[in-house]
Amino acid sequence: MSEVPLLFTSRKLPLNVAMIQVSPPDDFGWTSLGISVDVTMAAARSADFVIAQVNPKMPRVMGQSFIHVNDVDLIVEYEEDLLSVLLSAVSSDAAKKIGRHIANLIEDGSTLQIGLDAMSQATVQALSNKKDLGVHSQFLTDDIMHLYATGNINNKKKGINEGKMVASMAIGSPNLYEFLNDNPAVDFHPSDYVNDPFVIAQHNKMVSMNVAHRMDITGQVAAEASAATRFAGVSGIPDFVRGAKRSPGGKSILMLFSTSETEDGLQSNIVPQLNDTITVVPRGDVQHVITEYGGVNLFGKSVQERVVAMISIAHPDFREQLFNSAKDRGFIGAERTLGEAARAVYPVQLEEVINRGGEKIHIRPAKPVDERRIQEHYYNLPKEDILSRFFGQKTVFARAEMETRSNADYVNDLTLVAIIGDFGFGKVVAVAECMKLSRENTAEVAFSVSEDYQGKGLGTFFIKKLAAAARANGIGGLIAYTFPQNKAMINLFKVLPYKVTTTNEDGDLLLSCRFNELAD
Ligand SMILES: CC(C)(COP(=O)(O)OP(=O)(O)OC[C@H]1O[C@@H](n2cnc3c(N)ncnc32)[C@H](O)[C@@H]1OP(=O)(O)O)[C@@H](O)C(=O)NCCC(=O)NCCS
Repeated sequence: MSEVPLLFTSRKLPLNVAMIQVSPPDDFGWTSLGISVDVTMAAARSADFVIAQVNPKMPRVMGQSFIHVNDVDLIVEYEEDLLSVLLSAVSSDAAKKIGRHIANLIEDGSTLQIGLDAMSQATVQALSNKKDLGVHSQFLTDDIMHLYATGNINNKKKGINEGKMVASMAIGSPNLYEFLNDNPAVDFHPSDYVNDPFVIAQHNKMVSMNVAHRMDITGQVAAEASAATRFAGVSGIPDFVRGAKRSPGGKSILMLFSTSETEDGLQSNIVPQLNDTITVVPRGDVQHVITEYGGVNLFGKSVQERVVAMISIAHPDFREQLFNSAKDRGFIGAERTLGEAARAVYPVQLEEVINRGGEKIHIRPAKPVDERRIQEHYYNLPKEDILSRFFGQKTVFARAEMETRSNADYVNDLTLVAIIGDFGFGKVVAVAECMKLSRENTAEVAFSVSEDYQGKGLGTFFIKKLAAAARANGIGGLIAYTFPQNKAMINLFKVLPYKVTTTNEDGDLLLSCRFNELAD
């Protein structure tokens, strides 16, 4: 998209006539291109003959949006309503979930680029607790205007064009167009500026959020057109994906609904291969991908890791099928299983960020992509902790065994992990497992916290969270085995508000509590 203006100005694509719509000229003869500056500016500057419709309803938008009447060949005065698009104020459940997953990735002080559809709308609506946001985006929308009005967007930390929302066009309601009129907080620029990856990269924490139409299991993105139906023009997505990745602290996010309703029934939007469509973003450029089933970061991952990640966020009805086609194509080993993850619905409500000594620790349910990091966590435990956790000097933590933790169903098996570092590249510093036992509707819990993070309350945090999740899943109580000298583990159980029974079993202690028996 950033290169389209050059096609016109270089006359590689010569324009004979440009028909544009502008605001009434000001006292100096300048008219504004208003809500659509994008490629219109280059068209107006390079066409042989320019016809301008002066429409009093067109807002006078600040920035690089002005054309002088001397540069127009023919003026037609005609007032009419601008094309307005009113999106439904209520988002679907799936769109809200996607919005919530994305909001978890957005830090205060980020500069945002976002699209127009229902998922983008739900995402902007999910940002109402963020601070110091900025906007540098192809489109301005009503939701962005509302977030500006509530003070969440102030454009103060953008690093470039501070104090200004920058865009190249607006699509929305008449209120939005009124908001843009003579508003010094908004600058519109042509696409060769707004979409220029080098301009995008100059922003602090630039986050690009774009909608994918379909993706393959290795991460290739279709977003522009399909063989039979063209539903979009040249996409600005590659410009923003590449620019955002280069910005300090920036990231690119692609969102898609896991399925689409078609004439042939429900179809997965995550497919083994993109056959009849065009790849807009190659897989090497893709970072975060979000569906209503969760989010993964594909950047820098092997094909095997990508496939596991993409299948984990596909609709449960299609995971098995995708997994088998990945095996057929040789993307993943024949020995791998999907386990409980085949039908699991990731419980995003269990995600939380806590602060320990100024460090952010992400607490969340384990995902299939965590397998290797959980292995690394166990391999790094000191010998004494391995003994306390596994009751023996275990030296091998094989992948097949780890799968039971990362490929969980989140109901009968729930593993929580504590992670430090960037999404997709973090380090697991604690693992808390909860496995439902067949007897007495009870779950067994087990914990391991890395040496440097012990005594910081992570165990306490985990046991409370696991007990609450187990209760919510209809489990009646918890048990744990420990050595009698493991005071930390014994103390951990006492954190719960329930009566703890301690039984000696062959020299080990069995700690147990029932959720319907409160401590005295
Ligand atoms: C047991 C373990 C999970 C506790 O996790 P943690 O994050 O360090 O625990 P917390 O910081 O939440 O502390 C929990 C309680 O234990 C106490 N505690 C922590 N470390 C302790 C220690 N070394 N000795 C005595 N008490 C200790 C805390 O004071 C706290 O009690 P309080 O609430 O009365 O103050 C952690 O030490 C660990 O991973 N150990 C190795 C593996 C293991 O033993 N697992 C348990 C068997 S499955």
